[in-house]
Order: sequence, then structure tokens, then C-alpha cells
Amino acid sequence: MRYLLGLDVGTSGVKALLLSEEGKLIKTCNESYPLSTPSSGWAEQNPADWWEAVVKVINKIIKESNIRSENIAGISLSGQMHSSVFLDDEMEVIRPAILWSDTRTAKQCKDIQNKTGGLKKLIKKVSNPALEGFTAPKILWLKENEPDNYQKVNYVLMPKDFIRFKLTGEINTEVSDAAGTLLFYVKEKKWSEDIIEMLGLNGNILPPVIESIDIGGKINEITARKTPLKRDTPVIAGGADNACGAVGSGIIKEGRVMVSIGSSGVVLAQTNQPTADKKGRIHLFNHSKPDSWYMMGVMLSAGLSFNWLKNSLFDDHLDYEKLNKKADDVEAGSEGLIFLPYLYGERTPHGDADARGVFFGISGRHTQGHFIRSVMEGVTFGLKDSFRLIKKQNVKIKEIRAIGGGAKSKVWQQILADILGHPINLLNVEEGPAYGAAIIAGVGVGVFKSFEEVSDSIIKVSEQIKPNKENVKRYKKYYEIYRELYPSLKKEYKKLSKLN
Ligand code: XUL
Repeated sequence: MRYLLGLDVGTSGVKALLLSEEGKLIKTCNESYPLSTPSSGWAEQNPADWWEAVVKVINKIIKESNIRSENIAGISLSGQMHSSVFLDDEMEVIRPAILWSDTRTAKQCKDIQNKTGGLKKLIKKVSNPALEGFTAPKILWLKENEPDNYQKVNYVLMPKDFIRFKLTGEINTEVSDAAGTLLFYVKEKKWSEDIIEMLGLNGNILPPVIESIDIGGKINEITARKTPLKRDTPVIAGGADNACGAVGSGIIKEGRVMVSIGSSGVVLAQTNQPTADKKGRIHLFNHSKPDSWYMMGVMLSAGLSFNWLKNSLFDDHLDYEKLNKKADDVEAGSEGLIFLPYLYGERTPHGDADARGVFFGISGRHTQGHFIRSVMEGVTFGLKDSFRLIKKQNVKIKEIRAIGGGAKSKVWQQILADILGHPINLLNVEEGPAYGAAIIAGVGVGVFKSFEEVSDSIIKVSEQIKPNKENVKRYKKYYEIYRELYPSLKKEYKKLSKLN
């Protein structure tokens, strides 16, 4: 029996997953690592911590699954997008990686827009606007704020590409992560030389770009000594965590949409037409399936809002079961309590780092259950914003698949169906980006014939949640008010941010 190993280098830790050539899930293992916030709005990690965790998790999964490592036909990687690892001439890490969730680059984003001729022109070239999380503003930040470090930069890599470098000694990236740099022609699939020049950057620090299913290198001698992996095992390029999450949920055909309620919230649709939103409210990135793309709206605080409520507001004394029961006892609409889920600002649809959370409409009738339910509803209204923007791009929507921790809650599943006004499909397997990475490894080494064949045979709809007509009507009215709240608070958010 041959096996495939998927590794996801996430924000809280690394997950390893073994899949058999028959598509059977053998085992998963996790290792966590810390995140540091040296200043408000900053988020950094030490790439050496990722590598240490990867070595540990590989050792653990091979030992615990009792397989022979020579039977691993291929390995592939998924990782947090946009986060930047700066390497010097000796291929040593220069400073901690600046992560996707770091918002220190507001100035650089404005500069990029100005230097490239404004929002419209930038979107025309690289299909996306300048957002704090993306890679290009991070490189500019380094140039302006740490010139000595910038002088030393020989390569800038994304997390999974750094790990592939450690595993194989090869330097490269692939289309789905290149797309998130803002320095890549998403349609033509090559580095955007003119944007790089307009920004005064050195294009040589960007790695060569291959397809997700191409071989990115082979296990080298050092890795073969540190882990049971056999030398020369092929390491397939892999993809950005959202692209891999989509592959792992079967979002590889037009008409399928993924809604993910993890810490962040994602609405993602595969498309064969790389047409960017003219206002840049949703992202357009390359997919791991060659010559296909995806549109995506990203909410910064989805499950995170719920966990904030659980831990900070209720002091952690209610477990998930109790929280769900209380939410279920309240009627749809939370009797007029509306939550805006902008705890750390918002990406889609507002692109506003200053926005903050709001409970609107509190009355003396409201109890704990109302607050719990309104957080679920507010997050889902935010997902609806992304869903509507994707629909406006003329993307066919035949099926919605829900994944992530939030989508495990029965109450939240129903809220999702009622607010989106669409049946919601749940899947038999929900292992996220590491699962997608293992599938990509299989397609890359030829164990699986195609994305279509493998995903239709192993990823199945296990249950469908149908919208409740009454609730759909009621939520439409609440959603109207939800949408009006942000514009009426925009000015006050700006003022508030100046006080902090
Ligand atoms: C996508 C994004 C996040 C990260 C999380 O643009 O910034 O979803 O990929 O790892």
C-alpha cells in the first residue's frame, strides 16, 4: 500500500495527515507553536519553531501509524498565506516572519495604491487591492523600517515554501501562494515585473513559481537524518491553506462554494474565469487545480468572535454544548439584538482595520442566550456579505459546503441555511488544508488520476440542512439593518481608533 503525507503549516500549529492510495484517512497528528505580538496589531512567528514542529510531527505520525516510510509515495504542503520569511545569502532567517494577520502596514498599503496608479489600475494588474495582510506591503515595511535587514534579503518565502526548502534544499513557490503577494499576475501566472519596479523592489528576491501539483524538490540528506522519511521522496509544491482547504472539501468545480467558520470566516468559490471584483472587495487567487481560480471573501473574526464571547464574556464557565442549547432556545433574530463581528477590524467587505464589534439593540428582555445567538447570527450576516459579492461576479452557485468548527454546531448550521437562504451540505470528511495537501501530493505523483476523480470518490455529502422559510423571511429584515450599521459607524470607528 502506498501513502501520501500532507502537512499544513498553520498559524497555531502544524498538522500532519496520512492518506492511503485508496483515499482512506490513516492518521492525523498536531504540534503547536507560539505566536508573538511585540506591538499592538503585530503578529510574528519564528520559522525555526515551524521547522522544529514539522520534524516532530513527521516523526510522530510515522511512528504512531506504523507504516514504512518507503511506502510514502509523495508529500505535499499547505500553509498560512501571505506570511513572510526573509532569508539572507546563507539561507538563514533574518528576522521573525511577519504574519498574514499583522496589520502594521496600513501606510505601505496606501503607498502601493498611489505608486501603482490607484485602486483600479492595481486591480487590473494583480487582481487584488493592497491589504495589510498581503506580502508586498510587508516587504516595503521592512525596507522602510529595518533597512539593514532589507539589505540582507536574498529571498522572501511563504511559510510552506520555507518548510519545503528545509525538507528539500530547493527554493520555489507555486501559483496559489504567489497570488497572495500582490506581486503576481494572477491571470497570466507570472511575477508582475512592472508592479515590482513601480514599488522599487528587487524582483530577484522572489522565488521561481511552479504549479501546485509540480514536484518542488526531493527529501534531502539532512531531513532523512532527522526524520524517518526516505531520501528522494518527492515533495509536491502544494498550496495556500485556503486553496488546500478547498481541495479537501471538493471545491474544484464551478458551482461549488465553501463556507468555513474557523477562527476566521471564509466564503470561497472555484471559478474558471479569472475576473476580479472591480472594487477589490473579494480576493481573486490561483487555485491548486491548474488553470483554475477561486474568489474568496475573508472575515477576520468568525469563530474567534464566538470564542471571545465564551472565554471573555462568560468567563469560560459555559461549555459549547450549553452555549448551543441557550442559543437554540432563542428565536431567529435574537429578538432584535444584532452583533457586528469586527473585533479586529474587517477584511471583506469593508477593508477597514479600525472597525470594531458592536451589540446593537440591547433591551432589558435580552439574556445570555440572545447574546450567544446574535454572535452566531452576526458572523453569518458577515459571511452573507461575502456570499453576495461572489454571487455578483456571476459565479454559478449550485451547492454550498460548510466546514470548520462553527459549522459543527447544529444551531449554527441552521442559522447558516436560513441567513444564506440556501441548503447547506455537510461532508463525510473534514480535515481541512492538510487533507487537501495530501490529495495534491497524490495528484502530483500520479497516485490519483485527477482532482475530480479523487474528490468525487472520497469526499461525500453526508447531510443537507434545508432553510426554514419563516426564518429566511425574518433574517432578510434583520440583515438590512445589519448592513446599514457599518456605514453609519464608519466615522466614529476612525475617531475611536485615534484615542487608542
Ligand atoms: C487569506 C488569509 C488567511 C490565511 C490564514 O487571505 O489571510 O485565510 O491564509 O492562514
